[in-house]
Amino acid sequence: MSPNATNRKVLVTGGAGYIGSHACVALCDAGYQPVIYDNLCNASRHVPARIAEVAGVPVDFVQGDIRDADGLRGVFREFEPCAVIHFAGLKSVGESVREPGRYQDNNVGGTHVLLRSMDEAGVRTLVFSSSATVYGDPDVVPITESAPVRTTNPYGQTKLDIECLLGELYEASPDWGIACLRYFNPVGAHPGGRMGEDPSGIPNNLMPFIAQVAVGRRERLQVFGGDWPTPDGTGVRDYIHVMDLVEGHVAMLRLLERGPGLHHINLGTGRGVSVLELVRAFEAASGRSVPYDIVARRPGDIAECWADPTLARSRLGWRASRDLAEMCADAWRWQHLNPQGYGD
Ligand code: NAD
Ligand code: UD1
Repeated sequence: MSPNATNRKVLVTGGAGYIGSHACVALCDAGYQPVIYDNLCNASRHVPARIAEVAGVPVDFVQGDIRDADGLRGVFREFEPCAVIHFAGLKSVGESVREPGRYQDNNVGGTHVLLRSMDEAGVRTLVFSSSATVYGDPDVVPITESAPVRTTNPYGQTKLDIECLLGELYEASPDWGIACLRYFNPVGAHPGGRMGEDPSGIPNNLMPFIAQVAVGRRERLQVFGGDWPTPDGTGVRDYIHVMDLVEGHVAMLRLLERGPGLHHINLGTGRGVSVLELVRAFEAASGRSVPYDIVARRPGDIAECWADPTLARSRLGWRASRDLAEMCADAWRWQHLNPQGYGD
């Protein structure tokens, strides 16, 4: 990253999406100036204005695709960012099984174009959204960064391919500063109730599904399996508040400002929570009931997955601080104040 302390611009690909939008607010709070670059394939056109409203400062937005080299060149020339946080990508596991080529093209192909554009522009600092999906079905929990990586579906393959690409890039050009942040299960919303997760169609993930049942948009939750080898028989995950997650990105940027390097870091809380525990916590936070049926396991699911967050703590001086009650309270505030999400 440029040592020029006056350049605080950060290009945020996918900055109109769920995590990217919250990251833009955290960047503004930390004194950076995010420049959003998003093709809006999975985000509302209202998001950039909401980010500016919540952050209390104007935010630049360019609608564009990471596979468009000319578009990216124009953005690097106009804004001269000192770093990139790369959230842009397709993220539905089921869709990736049906359309693996589209996932390769968008996620991996798009990252190739982005890296070339960064190199041309002389920008060598990159934070990449990886995922705990790179650990597949882990042999042991909690999961440390040295656990074997493996792929279980085409979406996960794109994350592994990009991590591999970034490793090769760093090997060839050790003046780059690169971080692969492996997210566990991001949930919750900005506490102001103006920004949150707005999945299109039927939510694939547990928390938005529970929130839509609580608000009356869906009748009942289906709990995928009650016979997992876990304390209550339902799947266990490491849910992390999205505000904690994005603050981890700010901590990562600050570390990369101090010098080049290649980092692989888990962002999780270190605590496993079962589906039924999350349902109960959401009921307590919302005062609504969340009726559910226990049904068959979802193909491809795993019993349990949670992080060992020690490395994030020692290397970044960061740890998740918001508990399950706060994750549910913030998700609920967003859901009931905006029952149709951003509304487009
Ligand atoms: P999201 O779909 O809300 O955000 C992704 C954004 O990228 C969207 O706004 C979309 O419009 C944009 N985008 C997609 N392809 C693009 C392209 N070719 N050019 C420009 N913009 C494009 O998803 P999210 O939950 O905010 O996830 C952000 C990143 O974090 C993704 O890379 C995802 O794989 C990763 N991740 C998410 C989770 C999770 O549970 N949400 C977990 C692990 C990793
Ligand atoms: C899913 C993805 C994973 C991705 C992660 C974060 C799959 C197979 N895996 O993981 O690649 O990195 O999201 O985006 O899609 N559950 C229910 N009912 C529901 C939804 C979920 O019982 O309607 C259960 C699941 O079985 C699981 C837990 O809730 O035990 C969490 O599910 P989910 O939110 O989809 O996340 P992951 O399975 O961890």
